[in-house]
Formats: sequence, structure tokens, C-alpha cells
Amino acid sequence: MRELRVHKSGPLRGELRVPGDKSISHRALLLAAIADGTSSITGFLASNDSLATLTCVRSLGITVERLDGNLVVHGHGRHGLLPAKFPLDCVRSGTAMRLLTGILAGQPFESVLTGQEQLRARPMGRIVEPLTAMGARIETDNGHAPLVIRGGGLHGITYDMPIASAQVKSALLLAGLYADSPTSVREPGPTRDHSERMLAAMNARITANEDSITISPSEISPVSIDIPGDFSSAAFPIVAATIVPGSRITLHGVGINPTRTGLLDALSSMGASIAVKGFDTMSSEPVSDLAVQSAFLGSTEIYGDTVVRMIDEFPILAVAATQATGRTVVRDARELRVKETDRIATATEELRKLGASIEPTIDGFIVQGPTQLHGASVSSHGDHRLAMALAVAGLVADGVTRIDDIACADDSFPGFVELMRGIGGEYE
Ligand code: S3P
Repeated sequence: MRELRVHKSGPLRGELRVPGDKSISHRALLLAAIADGTSSITGFLASNDSLATLTCVRSLGITVERLDGNLVVHGHGRHGLLPAKFPLDCVRSGTAMRLLTGILAGQPFESVLTGQEQLRARPMGRIVEPLTAMGARIETDNGHAPLVIRGGGLHGITYDMPIASAQVKSALLLAGLYADSPTSVREPGPTRDHSERMLAAMNARITANEDSITISPSEISPVSIDIPGDFSSAAFPIVAATIVPGSRITLHGVGINPTRTGLLDALSSMGASIAVKGFDTMSSEPVSDLAVQSAFLGSTEIYGDTVVRMIDEFPILAVAATQATGRTVVRDARELRVKETDRIATATEELRKLGASIEPTIDGFIVQGPTQLHGASVSSHGDHRLAMALAVAGLVADGVTRIDDIACADDSFPGFVELMRGIGGEYE
């Protein structure tokens, strides 16, 4: 537990670079671990979540060297993993657990995956059901971790995902590398496609059309991967600079994969001033600088595919909506209830303590703005994205906002407080 005190702050100014993308870091490490040779990863995110994956990969017999924050991963091919001597601890990382389960479903040995209470409360049936259909035997605690996985002997399936989840899709694609026939996945909405991009770059036999993604059993080649800045981390300074009057900041090297940038569309429709400057490609991922100026916001409605493209950004979107004139409505976002916390419940509860007018609905929330927020004592509920959203709300709240635990920000964004201080955020 580490308390954070936030003071109302003056204009935010400066240039910054957010840490590497969390989703891409997990995938780079996992794929490098089963590649046929040595891969290098630059810009790996050293957050609690991605470090949990690193520990698990090492426990499966893979040598990973850390040199100046970069990784060198010595893969021994698809069948080069060894049984772990102890249960694999995914700590609080859903991505670590779900993607590892996909790989372990293909191994001819038994593995146990567990994690902290927050992770053990999250649904795992969504991966267990299709992986079982492929032939894996997975025991759960009533649909939750710990998972006991007895893998091997997988067959390809065609799977229509009932929910839009990149973690489910990725688990199936990884398992598909080990099946005896092709595996096809159809998704109901455009979830992040980092796995597909990376698998293609590593010469996996993967194809995609408008309807589905198909992977055939293949060895994958080692690569050199350079990881862009995490858009989901950039979201916090982006909203902060938008709502703190007089602000002007530039973020460098942010990943702008269109499956991740729904927040840019939502904020633009609210009248935000965010310029996408320059365009580059880093290891098959689009990257840009983003120049943000403060702006008067209007309200918006968010639903359908946009929800999927900004699924991690709703706590911070809710903060932006408290400063926007009108009624912002979010729907089709029921998945928020099974994130690190029930984010519909926790974001609503905590922003109300600051004076926001926000109502939860079954599948989203409604915010009436603008509101002058007032400092109060709030809780992060141990949820990194809620903690950082509250830390941004505090910048425009009168008086002092006290957040009970900001340490959880390290799950995705180590250095968050220091970086925000560097552009003018007053944090103690
Ligand atoms: C992630 C996918 C999303 C997202 C999570 C990271 C990934 O989860 O919320 O933070 O790296 O694949 P779902 O697949 O459950 O939507």
C-alpha cells in the first residue's frame, strides 16, 4: 500500500515517453520462448504483470537474459519447454494466465497456473471451454484459477467467440501452433491483433480474412522486436492534458494500432485536441507522436466496436466525461465487470466521492457534466487503471485527493507518478 496525495495542478507542459506496451511485451516474451532460436526484445515493459510472465517463462526452462532493460530470450522451438517444478504464479495478470494456458495446453506435461486473489476471481471458463474442445484437459476451481493443465494431443477447431476478447483469441492461436490441423477463430468485434501481427512476423502459418483468423501448426522463427509505447498508458497523460486548462504536451513513440485507439475516436468526438504527428512502423506495429492541448469537451455516446477498441480506457474516459458538457453514455461494455475489478462499480463509486455525477448501468455508465470535482479520500481497489484515473481526476479537483494505494500502478505503468510530476502534476 502506498498512499498518493494529489493537488489541483496548473497547466501540464512537456515532452514525454510512456513505457513499452504491456500486451505486446507479454506476447513478445511468450512467442520468443517457443521460437526456434534466440530473440531480442527492446523496450520490454518491466511492470508487475509482464514480469510475472518473465518469471513463468524462466520456470518453464527458458533462459532469458536482461541487458539494460532489454531481453535476450533463448527459445528451443515449440517443443522446447520443460515442466515447471512449482505452480506458475501469474500474480495479477490475466494476460499472463490466459496466454500461457494456450501454450501449456499444447505441452505433453502437467502444469499448474495460479495467481493472487484478484486474478483468481476472474473468469477462466472462457479459455477452458474452447481449449477443452481442442483436446486439452484442464481442471479449474469452479471456472477460476488455479488451473491444472494436462496438455498435448490437440486438434484444430473452428470457434465462434461469444465475447470479444483478445486474450481468448490469443490463447487459441497459441494452442493452434500445437494442433494436428488448422484452428480458426471468429471474433464478434475487432480485438487487439498484436498476436496475429507477431505470429506472422515470426513465420507462423497464419491467415486472416474479414471473418476469421486461421493458424496451422508451425514452428516459429526467432525475431528482433522493438516495443512501442503503450497507448493504454498514454491515455492518462492524454486525458490529463485535455482537462487541465492551458496544458500542452507531446508524447513520443506511442503505439497507435487501430484495435487500441478507440479512446482517440471518443475524445475527438468530444472535441479534444490531439494531433497524430508522423507515422512509423516498429516491429509490424504503427507508431506516432501525439500532441495534446487542453480543450473544452462535449459529451459523447460509446458503444459497439469502439468499446472493444478502448476496453482498458473506461476509468480514464469516465474522468474526462466529468469535465465534458452534457450526458456521456457508455453501453455494450459489460466486460468491464470482469476486469481487475468490476470497473463499472468501482469507477462509479470512487468518482462519486469526488462529486462526479455518474450512474452505473448494467453494461456501462452515464456521466452528466461538467462537474467541479472536490478532493476526497478514494480507493484504487488495487486496480492499476482506476488508481491512475483517480490520480488524473485529482489534478482538476479542488483541494487534496487522497488515493489509498497507488503502488498497483506498477502493474502496467511503472514510473507513472514520476512521469506525471515531470509535466507538472503535483503529487506527494
Ligand atoms: C489484453 C486484452 C484485453 C485487455 C487486457 C489486455 C491482451 O482483455 O483488457 O488488459 O493483452 O490481450 P480481454 O481479452 O479480456 O478483453
